[in-house]
Amino acid sequence: MSEVLNIAVFASGRGSNFEAILRAIETGKLHDVSIAAVISNNSEAPVLTIAREHSIPTYHLSQKQFPSEEKFDDAVLGVLRRHGANFIVLAGYMKRLSTNLVRQFRNRTLNIHPALLPKFGGKGMYGIHVHEAVINSGEKVSGVTVHIVDEEYDHGPIVRQRTVAVDKEETPDTLAMRIHGIEHQLYPEVLQLFADDRVRVNEGRVTIMENGAGG
Ligand code: GRF
Repeated sequence: MSEVLNIAVFASGRGSNFEAILRAIETGKLHDVSIAAVISNNSEAPVLTIAREHSIPTYHLSQKQFPSEEKFDDAVLGVLRRHGANFIVLAGYMKRLSTNLVRQFRNRTLNIHPALLPKFGGKGMYGIHVHEAVINSGEKVSGVTVHIVDEEYDHGPIVRQRTVAVDKEETPDTLAMRIHGIEHQLYPEVLQLFADDRVRVNEGRVTIMENGAGG
């Protein structure tokens, strides 16, 4: 039986991916998915304003507010429990989740990355730096990766990737813009796969079941 994915979105910045997911739910394109809450480590993050405008519960939770990682995790888990969240979506979240959180939401936490992992991921590879690195290394193709979060940064099993050709005249800004556009389509699509119970993870490999095979 499929269950509704009640997602907690973790985000640190603009929140355009969050907004794309929200829009997909509101227009009925993405179904059996609801947004439990938005958690940000950054109290000024525009994503929090967008969420409030849509009456979605928001929380500013930063490791700095807590004496230890355990206490921070307790606060995060408290929010997730309070809102019945059963799935975590990282959408531009600039912090690493603790091992404890990763374990508690094993195979139920996603991240989106603006390049074709395993290339151009890891430390320092965020925002415009990713696109600069792609262009500087002469890559002809970049893209978007949605992957399951594991204990390592930008590392877990890949669920879906979509490619984008890198044009001759490409700048980091133009590439970033086009990649963002792809992200906004891909993230809701992948969430639908989970909501339809079509994703299986076995020994670090993802299999997408045929439509109707879930449950
Ligand atoms: C996206 O490019 C995503 O791939 C990366 O962070 C960015 C977040 O953008 N993880 P936004 O805040 O959703 O606009």
